[in-house]
Amino acid sequence: MATASDADDAAFYADIRAPDGSFKFLVNGEWRVSSSGATCDSLNPSRANAAAHAFQACTRAEVDEAYAAAKAAHKAWAKVPLQERAARLHEAAALMRAHAAPMARAMVVEIAKAAKDAATEVRRSADLIDYAAQEGLRALAKGEFLLSDAFPGQKRDKLCMVTRVPLGVVLCIPPFNYPVNLAVSKIAPALVAGNAVVVKPPTQGCVAGLHMARCFDAVPGIPKGLVNVVTGKGATIGDYLVEHPAANCVSFTGGDTGLGVAKKAAMVPVQMELGGKDACVVFPDADLDAAAKAIVKGGFSYAGQRCTAVKLVLAFEEIADELIEKTCAAIGKLSVGLPEDDADITAVVSEKSADFIEGLVQDAVAKGARCLQPFRREANLIYPTLVDAVDETMRLAWEEPFGPVVPVVRVRSTQEALRFVNESKYGLQGCVFTRDVERAIRVADAMETGTVQINGAPSRGPDHFPFQGVKCSGVGSQGIGNSIETMTKVKSTVINLAQGASYAMA
Ligand code: G3H
Repeated sequence: MATASDADDAAFYADIRAPDGSFKFLVNGEWRVSSSGATCDSLNPSRANAAAHAFQACTRAEVDEAYAAAKAAHKAWAKVPLQERAARLHEAAALMRAHAAPMARAMVVEIAKAAKDAATEVRRSADLIDYAAQEGLRALAKGEFLLSDAFPGQKRDKLCMVTRVPLGVVLCIPPFNYPVNLAVSKIAPALVAGNAVVVKPPTQGCVAGLHMARCFDAVPGIPKGLVNVVTGKGATIGDYLVEHPAANCVSFTGGDTGLGVAKKAAMVPVQMELGGKDACVVFPDADLDAAAKAIVKGGFSYAGQRCTAVKLVLAFEEIADELIEKTCAAIGKLSVGLPEDDADITAVVSEKSADFIEGLVQDAVAKGARCLQPFRREANLIYPTLVDAVDETMRLAWEEPFGPVVPVVRVRSTQEALRFVNESKYGLQGCVFTRDVERAIRVADAMETGTVQINGAPSRGPDHFPFQGVKCSGVGSQGIGNSIETMTKVKSTVINLAQGASYAMA
């Protein structure tokens, strides 16, 4: 499918907009304005947080409607042959590629993602949908078959067929930093497995999420009610969505609020990814050019607003000066400015976030740390800073800035480095730079994190790799195959042969 013209895009997305310019929500195949009569705003972080887009402030009754529609659609969708479900997902991916531009533009405006990165996010998301469709075919075509006489005292008179069946309705709550990719990473595995979804987009990134939903809704073979999107303030509908009896699974990516979400989602499978404090341990024998490159890419991409960003450098004293020099040289080449201009460092998502980041730096500096680039802030725009001489008394050693500020702790031993990693409340990823394979494996084994990267920056992708955190970083594993597994349940059907009979393979 060719890339659509502006006029085609306008026609394709026409339904999602109300006459007053606000964005509608999607329930049971219908784009609607809320009966609340109220809207919420997403703000433009690069323009002094001026209102960017208005979207519907949905009511709890509308949440009920979304779940009812999803429940009904799931029943029919689960009966659609697997290869047809996969085909419908490929169609959604094609629509996403064809109509990428407005979705990417929404990310530039709402979350200050650099234009080229926003375009990449849409492409990555379409690829993820395609892969999920293929993986669904592979994973769900298979079952298991067990024979009873393998267990002590049993005859061969029970035959057990094991398959995976959909859970029902999956509640998908993506975060602001990947409002498209981390939405489809939940939606695509859910749908291919035969589930329906209710999606609650983030406030910042909401409109990008609505564009994404249109790409599913516009596929003729996707039944109405299969993909529903309710929008509004988390304070009004957040808990209601999570505690709703019709939710059969909760897939959430976000910050520490996820701890509360996990507690509220009682007795349904949860998939939670809640941030991290990914450390980069650099040993004296490391390739320092590679390590410096990974620290800059890992720490400052999208202004550090990635759960997998490098958020702590643990540099061995012997090489710390050289590593810092190389890292600072690369930081000096980063451009700072507007997402429309593809700047490397753009405004962080909100004033509150910028205040928090500044507070962490002030605390560190007051306790003796040094900013190697003068700390500079203009509204939400924070210039990239490497902070040297951080120690365990400083908040920056333990808290997640989610901004372009990377602390360096100088360490003298592996044990000291591991203490910073393992005493963290987080455990998402970590990375270790060394040329000694044995040491790399031993340190990776000792790090209490979901993933360890050897000689590379932390990263979720490629999107089919398992992705999981431990401790406050989350529960459950993502990655396309793992998500399909989470969003299905095991179903056993046992055939009992006539009492006492056994059969032998003739
Ligand atoms: O922010 C959380 C994301 O899962 C990180 O994904 O490693 O592709 O940036 P990424």
